[in-house]
Amino acid sequence: MEELTGRSGGSASRAGIVGVYPGSFDPITNGHLDLILRGSRIVDRLVVAVLRNEHKKPLFSVEERVEMLQEVVQAIPSVQVDSFDGLLVDYTARQNATVIFRGIRAISDYEYELQMALMNRRLAPDIETVFMMAGEAYSFISSRIVKEVIRLGGNIGGLVPPSVEARLRQRLLVPEP
Ligand code: PNS
Repeated sequence: MEELTGRSGGSASRAGIVGVYPGSFDPITNGHLDLILRGSRIVDRLVVAVLRNEHKKPLFSVEERVEMLQEVVQAIPSVQVDSFDGLLVDYTARQNATVIFRGIRAISDYEYELQMALMNRRLAPDIETVFMMAGEAYSFISSRIVKEVIRLGGNIGGLVPPSVEARLRQRLLVPEP
C-alpha cells in the first residue's frame, strides 16, 4: 500500500498534508481569499507564501502584504502566512508540502499556469500542482484591476476585504466615497 500511496507513516504524514499557495498578493483580493478557504479544506496545513524577489515594483512591501494576509486569515487556524524567495519548489519542499495551489480564473490564465506547473513538475516530480477555480463572483478580479479601479475613483466594495480597501485608500490617497 505504501508504494501506492507514497506515504510512509513518517513525520510528514503525521503532520498531515501540507499545501503552499504562492503569489504576489499585491494586495490580497476576495478572489485569493476564496481560494485560501477552498484550499484549506483540502489540506491539513496551508501556507500562503508571498514571493519576495519580484522584478515588478509592488504597491505594498512584502512585510505589508504578509501583514494584510495575516489580518484576513487569522480566523482560519490551519492557514499560515509566510514569504519566500528562490525557487518555489525548494520552498515547498522546505515546508514539507506536497501540493502547490494555483487559481485559474479564465482560459487566458491557463497557458502561463500550465508552463509553470510543468516546469515545477520537472524540477520536483513529487510535488503536485492543483488548480482551483475561484467562485464565479471573483472570476474577473485581479490585484492589478482592483488597484486601477480604486485609483480612478471606482467602487471596489466586495472585491477586497475591508481592511485591504482601507490600506489601498491610504496608500493611493483616495478619499472615502
Ligand atoms: O501571483 P503571481 O505573481 O502570479 O505568482 C507567481 C509565482 C510567485 C507563483 C511565481 O512567480 C513563482 O513561483 N516564482 C518563484 C520562482 C520560481 O520558482 N520560478 C520557477 C517556476 S516556473
